[in-house]
Amino acid sequence: MYNRWLHFYCVVLAVCTLFLVVAGASVTSNDAGLSVPDWPLSYGKLMPDEMKGGIFYEHGHRMVATTVGFLTIILAVWMWKTEERGWMRKLGWIALGAVIVQGVLGGMTVLFLLPKPVSISHACLAQLFFTLTVCFALFTSAGWKRGPEVVEDTGSPPLRSLAVLAALTVFAQLALGAAYRHGALGLVPHVVGAIIVAGVVLIVAMFALQQFPQHRPMRRAALAMLLITMVQVLAGIAAYMSRIYTSDSIQPLPVMVAFTVLHVALGAVTLASSVVFAIQVVRNARPPLAERISAVSVAS
Ligand code: HEM
Ligand code: HEM
Repeated sequence: MYNRWLHFYCVVLAVCTLFLVVAGASVTSNDAGLSVPDWPLSYGKLMPDEMKGGIFYEHGHRMVATTVGFLTIILAVWMWKTEERGWMRKLGWIALGAVIVQGVLGGMTVLFLLPKPVSISHACLAQLFFTLTVCFALFTSAGWKRGPEVVEDTGSPPLRSLAVLAALTVFAQLALGAAYRHGALGLVPHVVGAIIVAGVVLIVAMFALQQFPQHRPMRRAALAMLLITMVQVLAGIAAYMSRIYTSDSIQPLPVMVAFTVLHVALGAVTLASSVVFAIQVVRNARPPLAERISAVSVAS
């Protein structure tokens, strides 16, 4: 049964998580990661005496993270109590586990003075967690409850494989971005990755639009992924240029911070859009009947 309030709650959680990604990216871009030296408390208190400079970003990020953590607990319990779909109840607990691991990684970045592998893992898990919240909004939507509009995926290679490949390529690109941002890799792999991602997303989206132009969920998901990815490439170029043009000033300058934070947040939205597209394709585009029959007879 469609639960309007649960869907609304999931949308609110996704919006709060995007705000949390913005808050987290502001910590990194303002070099504020070590402004509060202890964890889980801040200067030995729940609320530090001063919320100035880097402390504002670092402790503010912790406050938003705590709020999202509580919202996730409520969601997991709500779904456990009311969801008929067992896999959704499990997904609720997985989200709760992910937010706890993310909090611990965040604490470790502070206690171990920003070790690169931990900062990179914290950055990547943030993007995955946001994507999961967007999936909750999708799975609880009225459109999802109406059921799939099944079409035959006759392409070679199948659109399903291409859609999953696009999402995996975007995730690899996010990881390269995080590795560059935290100084583990140079810019070149990230820029080469951007060219590959842009190409893969363009081809796969065109493929979907050409094959199933009348299929609303797939068409909308393909267009959204394409548009967001292209804007993200522009935001990446803007983030880079803002750093180059302000390189002789004392950083962090607000213009550089703004473009970079935008690029990180749009990175999360890009991943979410590619995963939503992959889910819609896998759900709606099924292998041709003959292929399914032979798969069943081989299995039996
Ligand atoms: C749901 C929980 C959380 C999410 C989704 C989240 C998300 C993020 C994001 C997106 C960034 C920016 C990464 C980047 O720009 O590369 C970040 C940075 C950071 N977060 Fe979190 N965070 C969470 C919880 C926490 C907690 C509980 C702490 C506790 C101390 C924390 C501490 C930090 C620190 C210190 C940074 C800066 C790391 C650096 O500059 O290397 N985070 N977070
Ligand atoms: C679809 C393509 C792209 C995606 C999905 C993407 C994603 C990302 C993400 C998620 C981050 C931050 C990772 C973190 O959380 O720590 C990042 C960092 C960065 N990206 Fe991209 N990016 C793309 C294209 C580009 C392009 C074309 C450029 C242009 C040169 C670029 C330049 C940068 C820069 C400069 C940073 C580091 C910002 C800083 O800390 O100063 N990106 N990218």
